[in-house]
Amino acid sequence: MKFRAIMGALCAAGLMCGAASAQAAESLSVLHWWTSGGESKAVGVLKDDMQKQGYVWKDFAVAGGAGAAAMTALKTQVISGNAPSAAQIKGPLIQEWAEQGVLVPIDSVTGDWKANLPPQIDKIIQADGHYVAAPFSVHRVNWVWINKAALDKVGAKPPTTWAEFFTVADKLKAAGIQPVAAGGQPWQDLTLWEDVVLSQGADFYKKAIVDLDQKTLTSQQMVGVFDTVRKIESYMDNGRTGRDWNLATAMVINGKAAMQFMGDWAKGEFANAGKQPGKDYICAPVPATEKAFTFNVDSFVFFQQKDQKAATPGQLALAKTIMTPAFQEQFSLYKGSIPVRLGVPMDRFDDCGKRAYADEQVAIKAGGYVPSLAHGMAQRDATAGAITDVVTKFMNSTQDSKSAVEALARAAKTK
Ligand code: GAL
Repeated sequence: MKFRAIMGALCAAGLMCGAASAQAAESLSVLHWWTSGGESKAVGVLKDDMQKQGYVWKDFAVAGGAGAAAMTALKTQVISGNAPSAAQIKGPLIQEWAEQGVLVPIDSVTGDWKANLPPQIDKIIQADGHYVAAPFSVHRVNWVWINKAALDKVGAKPPTTWAEFFTVADKLKAAGIQPVAAGGQPWQDLTLWEDVVLSQGADFYKKAIVDLDQKTLTSQQMVGVFDTVRKIESYMDNGRTGRDWNLATAMVINGKAAMQFMGDWAKGEFANAGKQPGKDYICAPVPATEKAFTFNVDSFVFFQQKDQKAATPGQLALAKTIMTPAFQEQFSLYKGSIPVRLGVPMDRFDDCGKRAYADEQVAIKAGGYVPSLAHGMAQRDATAGAITDVVTKFMNSTQDSKSAVEALARAAKTK
C-alpha cells in the first residue's frame, strides 16, 4: 500500500487525521450539480473512492437540474482565482473552457481510453489533441417514465406513436389521473421539445439541431413539432412552473401523475425509492423514437490550480478512477445511466439499463445516435441558450407555432 493510501485508510477509520497527515492529503474541490437522491448516491461512490485513496473531498454541489446554476457558480469561482480542482462540464463547453487556457491535460492516465470509448465520445473529451475531461456514463434522454399501476388502470400499453400517446393521455385524464408530470424550467421544456424533434426521425433531428439547417428549422414539419409540444403541454398540471425534475419524477413514483418525459437519471430516483422496472414503472422510448438514442455524457474537467503548472496527483487520480470499470459500473447503477467505457459487464443492470445499452448499439449502427441539445451535447452555449429561450417562451405563452418557428430560425444564427 502506498503512503497516501495508508494515511487515507487510517483517516477513514477515524485515526490519524491530524496535522501530520493533513500535510500529505491533497484537497480536491469538486463542483457538480448532482443533488437529487439518485444523483447524490452516484457521486458518493466517487467521493468514497477518493477518500479511500487518501484525498480530501471538498464538495461544491450547486443544486439545479442540467447545471445552469452550477455553471454560473463556476464562472464566478474561476474569475475570482478559485477554480475548483474538478468541475462537471460536458460537450462543446469542454472546448470553450479549454480555449480560456484554464484546464490542465490529463494525458498521463488516459493510455487505454481511446480503445475503450466510442469514437464520438473520445473526441469530445479532448482539446487541442490532449485529453482534458474524464467521462462518467451515457444517459439516454429520449425516455418516457410511466407509472405501471396508472397505465394498467386505464388498460393501456406504453404509447409508440403520438396518436397513441394522446389516446392514453385522454383515458388517464378521464380516470382522474394527471397524464403528464413536468417541471416548468427552461431545460425541461427543451428536453421535451428535442424529444418531439427526434420523433420526426434522426435525420430531421440532425439537420435541425446539429446542422442548424435553416430550411429544416423553418419547415412545416417544424411548425408541427411546436403544435405537438403545445398539445402535450395541455396534459400537464398548472403547478409545474419552476418545479424541479426530481419532484416531477416523484409524482410518477407516487402515482400522482402517470408519465414524465425525462432522461434516465429519473431511473436513479425510482431505484432510490426501491421501485422496480416492469413491476412498478415502465421505461419506454419517447413515441416514434425507438430506433434513436439522444446521448448525454457527463464528464469532469480539471482546472489549473494555483502555483501548479500541470495536473496535480489528486486530479490525475480522480480522472483515472472515473474511467475504471468498477467505478463505471457502480456509478451508473445508482445514476440510471449506462457505462461510457466499452466492455463493462451489464449483468448487474436492470431491464431499462439493458435496453438502453441494446438500443444504443442499434442506434449507433443505424445513424440514430444523436447528441442532446438540452443537455449541452449538440451546440455551444450561446446557440443552445438562444434556442432554449425560444422554446421556453413558447411554452409559457400563447404564441402560435408559426411565429415560434420564425424565432427559432433567428435564434439558431446566434454564435
Ligand atoms: C443532466 C446531467 C445528468 C443529470 C441531469 C439532472 O444535464 O447530465 O447527469 O444530473 O442533468 O440534473
